[in-house]
Amino acid sequence: MDSILVKGNGALNGQIPIAGAKNACLTLMPATLLSEEPLTLTNAPRLSDIRTMTQLLQSLGVEVSPLQAGKVITMSSHAEINPLADYEIVRKMRASNLVLGPLLARLGHAVVSLPGGCAIGARPMDIHIDALTALGAEIDLRDGYLHAVARGGLKGAVHEMRLASVGATENFVMAATLAKGNSVLKNAAREPEIVDLVACLRKMGAQIEGEGTSTITIQGVDRLHGATHPVVTDRIELGTYMLAPAICGGEVELLGGRLHLVGAFAEKLDEAGVAVVETERGLKVSRKNGRVQAVNVTTEPFPGFPTDLQAQMMALLCTANGVSVLEEKIFENRFMHAPELIRMGARIDVHGGTATVTGVEKLKGARVMATDLRASVSLILAALAAEGETVVSRVYHLDRGYERVEEKLSACGALIERISA
Ligand code: EPZ
Repeated sequence: MDSILVKGNGALNGQIPIAGAKNACLTLMPATLLSEEPLTLTNAPRLSDIRTMTQLLQSLGVEVSPLQAGKVITMSSHAEINPLADYEIVRKMRASNLVLGPLLARLGHAVVSLPGGCAIGARPMDIHIDALTALGAEIDLRDGYLHAVARGGLKGAVHEMRLASVGATENFVMAATLAKGNSVLKNAAREPEIVDLVACLRKMGAQIEGEGTSTITIQGVDRLHGATHPVVTDRIELGTYMLAPAICGGEVELLGGRLHLVGAFAEKLDEAGVAVVETERGLKVSRKNGRVQAVNVTTEPFPGFPTDLQAQMMALLCTANGVSVLEEKIFENRFMHAPELIRMGARIDVHGGTATVTGVEKLKGARVMATDLRASVSLILAALAAEGETVVSRVYHLDRGYERVEEKLSACGALIERISA
């Protein structure tokens, strides 16, 4: 297993290109099942999660051809589609559950393994099941698999979700595009990745309104055609790298970044004393005056502060001036980066879903272990400004969601290298 070695090296200056969004690509790819014509995605990120989704779709009979080293993905599901999403692949990535809605819409039946445990929480699928049942599916859980059948096909419905689940919104919207009649989804999630999915579905001929709001209306159509669609910029990668100059000092321009993707996050950075300026080519980030100030953070569904940036923000607050309180309201176990940051000298008290961080002047390099995707990059960020050397182990977590981290950070002056085991 690879590790990453980081030596604290002071301020960072330069430019970092931001890739296409992992969490948009993971819902755009299953949309290929909704049409027998080819779907091509450009600006796709080159990540292990995308390779896992590729494997899953290929196991269903989809032809997936990554081009230009994976920046372009052409998919075609004209062949006979297999309805079984096998545990061996699904267990590697929860987002595999996003084939459930499209398979039901395409075939009228599906057998999809439950993803199994995840480090950050139980992550049940009840909201997905309720949403697809509302569209007429009968879904039973047997031997770890969801057995779903839509006798006579899916039928449009009005459905309100108990919680604005991102994945359940995506499964419902994709399924409803081919249902008979109209559907309305209430308490829908509003994330930019959903807006991007709808933009792609509309190019395929879907009739959808209201994406980005809490009420999405879908008029079922008989069939969808092929399309070509650019994956939206990754707002979580963007927010992650915005924190690099915030933690280290200096000025970094994030190419492709736009403020509307990181609204609440940028406001919180401003409150902490970090300037975010939108330029023609992206976002320029630098400290306003010296040490950042402590701030309080509560994670919320979009457009609130993203849970996927909570671990990275904690890394910044470990050296802020004052005491910060972080409340994690989306997942029940998303502070696993805290004990590792404490190994670097951070002062963090965790009680349930609340972490209290008392800023220290400087962190110290140490051997630390990545536990999940966003925790891994939080440790990298902390190490960039720490005194001495840090070795982050189990960086396979990092490779799920971040392309070429060492390259992007080294280009701005960081001392970072991968150590292959
Ligand atoms: C998506 O996961 C993202 N993943 C997650 O990013 C992100 O953290 C999450 O949305 C919240 O923004 C992808 O898009 C592939 P949810 P998803 O359904 O759809 C509970 C990353 O780091 N829930 O909105 O699985 C659930 O347990 C990943 O890139 C149910 O109880 O998230 C959680 O507590 C991590 N029942 C909350 O809702 C359900 O049926 C939000 O989950 C579904 C969800």
